[in-house]
Amino acid sequence: MDFYLDSANLDEICSVSWFPIRGVTTNPTIVAKENRPFLSLMEELIDLKLPQIHAQVLADTTEEMVEEAKMLIRLSPGTIIPKIPVTPAGIHAIWRLAQDGYKITATGVFTVGQGLAAAKSGAQYIAPYINRIDQTGQSGVSMACELKAALETYNLPATILAASVKTLYQLKGLIEGGIQGITVQADFLNQVVYHPLTEQAVEGFTQDWLKTFALRTLDAPVKSRGKE
Ligand code: E4P
Repeated sequence: MDFYLDSANLDEICSVSWFPIRGVTTNPTIVAKENRPFLSLMEELIDLKLPQIHAQVLADTTEEMVEEAKMLIRLSPGTIIPKIPVTPAGIHAIWRLAQDGYKITATGVFTVGQGLAAAKSGAQYIAPYINRIDQTGQSGVSMACELKAALETYNLPATILAASVKTLYQLKGLIEGGIQGITVQADFLNQVVYHPLTEQAVEGFTQDWLKTFALRTLDAPVKSRGKE
């Protein structure tokens, strides 16, 4: 499973440099939060040298989506993957761009049918909104797993990049389903790795070490018996 950060905030992205993310995903809401000119923000994101930046178009007509997608790709070919919402205009734009050989992420996916339509149009990545689907009373994880099965049934090469993932339970379901990628917020990566029993175990190891050794280093001398 590849992890992406759903962020355009440079400090936030740098704060998770301890985790092997494959890239970042953005949308107009995420970019607007940065409150600065889009193109200079993109330049700084590109300078981070992440393997992938999934950046969303803003237009709502096919023609303009295609133009915006090509403009985004030109900023850093091979790194930028345009995100296009699954609307009728978006599906047409994905189809046209895919025919020209461009990789596209289909976003805003809430049903298996939408995901299949995007994959048939040639999208490389499909982004179902897991938590937002849960909020409708459906299961986002089940939908993502059903979509993965449908892509396999119909031999479609698209892979799933699950978006709007908010809970460890959702993550567990996505892992069990073999979902290929997820995009999350920075805090979520801490939640993935943190466990109180891990902290407790490490603390126990340290205390046991210090009962025998004078210092917390692997080349520490043994404490002198006289001082025990
Ligand atoms: C994905 O492409 C979107 O940017 C994002 O994950 C949507 O998630 P949200 O429900 O946190 O807005």
